[in-house]
This record gives sequence, C-alpha cells and structure tokens, in this order.
Amino acid sequence: MSSMVRHPMVTLSSGTQVPMTSFGTSQLRPDEVRPAIAAAVAAGYRLVDTAASYRNEISVGEAIQALPEADEVMVSTKIRGPAHGYDSTIRAAHESMERLQRQHLDVLLIHWPLPTVDRYVDTWRALQTLRDEGLVSTIGVSNFLPEHLQRLYEETGEWPALNQIECHLQNWRREEVAFHASTGIRTQAWSPLAKGGDVLEHEAVLAAARRTGRTPGQVVLRWHVQRGVLPVPKSATPSRIAENAAITDFELTDSEMTSFEVLDVGIWLGPDPRTHVE
Ligand SMILES: NC(=O)c1ccc[n+]([C@@H]2O[C@H](COP(=O)([O-])OP(=O)(O)OC[C@H]3O[C@@H](n4cnc5c(N)ncnc54)[C@H](OP(=O)(O)O)[C@@H]3O)[C@@H](O)[C@H]2O)c1
Repeated sequence: MSSMVRHPMVTLSSGTQVPMTSFGTSQLRPDEVRPAIAAAVAAGYRLVDTAASYRNEISVGEAIQALPEADEVMVSTKIRGPAHGYDSTIRAAHESMERLQRQHLDVLLIHWPLPTVDRYVDTWRALQTLRDEGLVSTIGVSNFLPEHLQRLYEETGEWPALNQIECHLQNWRREEVAFHASTGIRTQAWSPLAKGGDVLEHEAVLAAARRTGRTPGQVVLRWHVQRGVLPVPKSATPSRIAENAAITDFELTDSEMTSFEVLDVGIWLGPDPRTHVE
C-alpha cells in the first residue's frame, strides 16, 4: 500500500473544487484529533470535515496549523441548529473561522434543515452572502431532502454545490443521489463505512476484497466513488487512515457493484431529517 495517495479534485457546479474524499472528525476523542489529522494529511487527505456542533473546531484548527502542509489542507465546517437565521449564521461562520484559525472557509454547510424550525432558507441566504464576500469558497448543505433543496432553489435560484447525507451500503439513498445528479449537486456520504459495522464482513464485500487484494473498507469506499459519491470516512487508527486513503488505484467491476445491492435495506444510523431538531 502506498503511504501517500493524493486524492483527485472534483469540480463542483459552483466551479470550485473539493478532493474526492474528506477526513471525518466527529467521533474522534479530543486526544485523538491531532495524531489522526497528522496521519490523514500524511496519507494524502486534503479536506478535513468538522462542524460547530462537534465542539472540536479549536483542536482541528490547531492540529492543521501544526502541520507543514497547513496551507494545502482545506476545511469543511457546518452551521449548527441554534444558529439558523441570517444574522446568527453570519456570526456563527465568523466564530467557526476564529476557532479554526482561518480567515476563510473552504466549505461551509448547513448541518441539518430543521424543517420544523423553518429558518433554512434565511440560513442559506447568509451562506450566499459569505460566499459573495469571498469568505467561503463552497457553500452547501447536509441532511437536506429533495423537498428542502427544491425550496432553496425556488426561493433563492441556486442549488447547493454539496449535500452531505447519511449514505452507506445499507442505505444507498438512490432517489436522493439521482435527484442530486439531476440538479448538479454533489453527494457527500457520512458514515460511508456504516460506522465499520457488519456490512464490512458481508460475503459480497469480502469477495470483492479478495479479488482486488484490498480490504473491505477500501472496497466500500471505492463503491462510493464509482457511483459518484464523495465519502467522508472517519478513523482514529493510523493503519486504517492510510488504508481508507488508498482507493484510487483499483476498480470494482459492474457485477461487483451490482452484488452489493442486496445490502441496501434502508437502515438509518442517524436521525430523521424531517423531524430532527438540535
Ligand atoms: N453531516 C452529518 O450530519 C454527519 C453525521 C455523522 C457523521 N458525519 C461525518 O462523517 C464522518 C464519518 O462518519 P462516522 O464516523 O459516523 O462513520 P464511518 O466513517 O462510516 O465509520 C467510522 C468507524 O469505522 C471504523 N473504521 C474506519 N475505517 C475502517 C476500516 N478501513 N475498516 C474497518 N473499520 C473502519 C472506525 O474505527 P476506528 O476509528 O477505531 O479506526 C469507526 O469506528 C464523521 O466523522 C463526520 O465528519 C457527518
């Protein structure tokens, strides 16, 4: 396995670019953040995914700043629920920049739509302002359903460049991924490894792993990429961090991709975006 695999950049509908894979930080313990980010950057990751609600932006910012590659590392963060609304989102973005030690954010997402709160359109308008002022390169959303995306478009005339949603072998989110593709939105997958659960031991995954000489985790991440989805895997384990980065130099066959369909049973690992409030 190569120790350093630079991920290809993907051009978004906004004209901006993000790496094919991001490094997820939400489940890292505080003492794990610095070594994990150092290992991720050494393995080739160039986009680190965090959020105000993870309460780790300060340690993520410090971990990146401590690296010689700091200037090359992009950061994605998210607006948390209590900050929804125009003015509070502008303030929240500035607070995130301060915690991350950045004067500019590469990617800023609305973490959840919170339809029962019904402030996501104003929140999106604030992201547009931040982008227009040059403070953020790429604006997008997370956990938005097609009905929420449609409303953003109808009220503001712009589709988000990214929608980061729960997406893994046990919940392919086919309709949403197809809707995104039809509107130019790129899907990012959270919990792309289904949190490292049983799915990694399914016979179809193991068979593809044997044929390609790769690990089950690599096979699953490759499956995401081959269906046009950008995975956001998390690991605190240096060997897995490197393994999860090394997914650019092998291909799954069409029949292997099809063999995984039996796993798509619609299991949800996280909250329901229609009702979730934070
Ligand atoms: N937007 C949202 O609402 C939202 C929600 C949840 C998560 N996220 C983002 O998505 C990221 C990833 O999600 P996640 O942490 O829930 O799930 P995940 O990446 O699917 O799974 C992480 C788990 O899998 C294990 N693992 C990692 N690589 C592995 C491999 N190659 N083989 C076997 N097991 C492996 C990890 O263990 P070790 O760490 O022990 O190696 C960890 O327990 C988060 O960190 C966060 O950035 C976003």
